[in-house]
Order: sequence, then C-alpha cells, then structure tokens
Amino acid sequence: MTNPAQTYPLHHNPQLNADGELTHLLSIDGLPREALTNILDIASSFLEVSDRDVKKVPLLRGKSVFNLFFENSTRTRTTFEIAAKRLSADVINLDVARSSTAKGETLLDTIDNLVAMHADMFVVRHAASGAPYLIVDHLRRIGRSDVHVVNAGDGRHAHPTQGLLDMYAIRHYKKDFSSLRVAIVGDILHSRVARSDIHALTTLGVAEVRAVGPQTLLPAAIERMGVQVCHSLQDGLCDCDVVIMLRLQNERMNGTLLPSAREYFQCYGLTPAMLALAKPDAIVMHPGPMNRGVEIDSRVADGPQAVILPQVTFGIAVRMAVMSILAGN
Ligand code: CP
Repeated sequence: MTNPAQTYPLHHNPQLNADGELTHLLSIDGLPREALTNILDIASSFLEVSDRDVKKVPLLRGKSVFNLFFENSTRTRTTFEIAAKRLSADVINLDVARSSTAKGETLLDTIDNLVAMHADMFVVRHAASGAPYLIVDHLRRIGRSDVHVVNAGDGRHAHPTQGLLDMYAIRHYKKDFSSLRVAIVGDILHSRVARSDIHALTTLGVAEVRAVGPQTLLPAAIERMGVQVCHSLQDGLCDCDVVIMLRLQNERMNGTLLPSAREYFQCYGLTPAMLALAKPDAIVMHPGPMNRGVEIDSRVADGPQAVILPQVTFGIAVRMAVMSILAGN
C-alpha cells in the first residue's frame, strides 16, 4: 500500500507546510476538493484492513500517537485509537482527568512535555475553539512542525474527521455528490459537525445543502456558507437524499433557546412520518451521541434508512487515511 504525500495549492493555511503538503488536519475549510477526495480514496483502500485476520499495516510503525481528549468522547477517541493501532503506531491516551492539567499545568506546557517524550502526532479534542491551532502555532515556534496535529473537535468550530467520515458515508451510499440535496437538522448553532459537513458538502459540489432548525439554533448569516435556511422540518426534508440529524448541545447553550425538549421533538424530531417526506431511498445520518425522543425517533434511528453505525465503522478507515497522509509528509 502506498503512503502518498499529496500536495495542494499553497495559500495561507496552517495545515499546509512550505511545500503545500497537508501536515496537520485542523479544518475542512480551506481544503480543496482534491484533498478531500484523496482522503476518501485512501480511506477506501483501508476499509478492508478491518476484515483481515491480522488487522494491521505498518505505515506508522515506530511512531507515537498521543490522544489528548480534554472533552468527553466515545466514537472519536476510540476510533482514532483503533485507527492508529491498525497503522502499527504506539498509542498513548492521556488520562486528562488524572493528568497535571488538574494541577494547573497549561495546555502548551503539557504539549512541551509530551514532545519531550518523542510524540509524533497529537489527536486533540478541546472545548475551546482554536485549541489545536494554538498547538500548531506553538510547535512551529519551538521548531517542531514535524509533530502533526489532528483536530478531533474544537468547541463549536470544527470536527474535520467527522466531516470526512460523513462524506465517506454519503459517497458510499449515493456514489455521486453533484445531484444530492442534503438536510442538516437541529442545533447547527453549537455544532462543529455541521460546520465541517457544510464546508465539505459545498466543496464537493452537492446540489443543495439545507440548514433546518429554529431561528435560535441557526448561526446568524449562515446563508453565507452556501446553504438554504429552512425553519420548517417539512420543507427541509422535502425530496432530500440525505438527512443529517444533530443533537441539542445543551452543554454549549447559554440560557434557554428552546421551550422544552418535548416541544422540540414535536417540531423537529425525525419520526417515520417526517422521514417519509424525503426521497424513499434517503439515508439518515447522525454523528452521535443520539438523544432518542429529542431529535430522533427510535423507529428511525434503528430503521432501514439509518446509516448511523456504518458511519462509525467508516470513521476508522477515514482516520487511518488522515494519519497515514500526515505521517507521509
Ligand atoms: N461524533 C462524535 O464526535 O462522537 P463522540 O463525541 O463520541 O466522539
């Protein structure tokens, strides 16, 4: 299996090195279509590794990948760990709750110490938007830009590997992006997944992206991202090919933005009757974690159109692709 160092047009983008090679993955915003399709193509080649008796390839042998999750995670942390192990890396999961962060050590002092332990790659999730950018800038200033950073979700800003695995799932089930109508439904205001998905979908050239939700849960001027705004779930779902449901991110909400979860479900919950407004072969996606009975009915979440668990499986191959491309630099 090859480990190509794909190059892209050079512009100001901390994800690219001086030769225009992808050296960190911080955001889908700013990555050209060829970069996205290259990652999806390489992920395709990794999918079968999980079906082998020996689920390993040696592309990251001898490398140390540090998982730094300053925020909770089930899917992203675990699939990054699986992906790194399938690439034969040594994986170190920093136990943040028991780390010296609790004693007041700064993020950048923690990074300095892990670099001193010969880290080759950091996978970072942080509640603060921009935290992975701060780390990349710090590594540049200490002359260690050879240490790669992958953003595993920063605040409400970006979750690029979730966006990529979502694109992988859409391409897997729908083949071609150009004719697709995609509805992203729910708490877009607080969602880093929505932002990454919108950047990816518009870059890959889908016919239409709809941002569906109440006014209080849509960012101001979201139309500038190239989406159609729908405040009615019925309008938003009509004839669409892909439905991406989002969780209400109560942990990021300041104050009350909704009357109640029950009323939210009545207006924006995806029930079988609502899903019937979409195309008959529409797929239903959700990045997880799901709140059943709040944004999605169990009959839909567990139904034949849901591809929510395959999304998780694709996430391993996509994360393998991202890490192997970065290490190839
Ligand atoms: N989709 C996602 O980021 O899930 P986790 O929070 O469980 O990682």
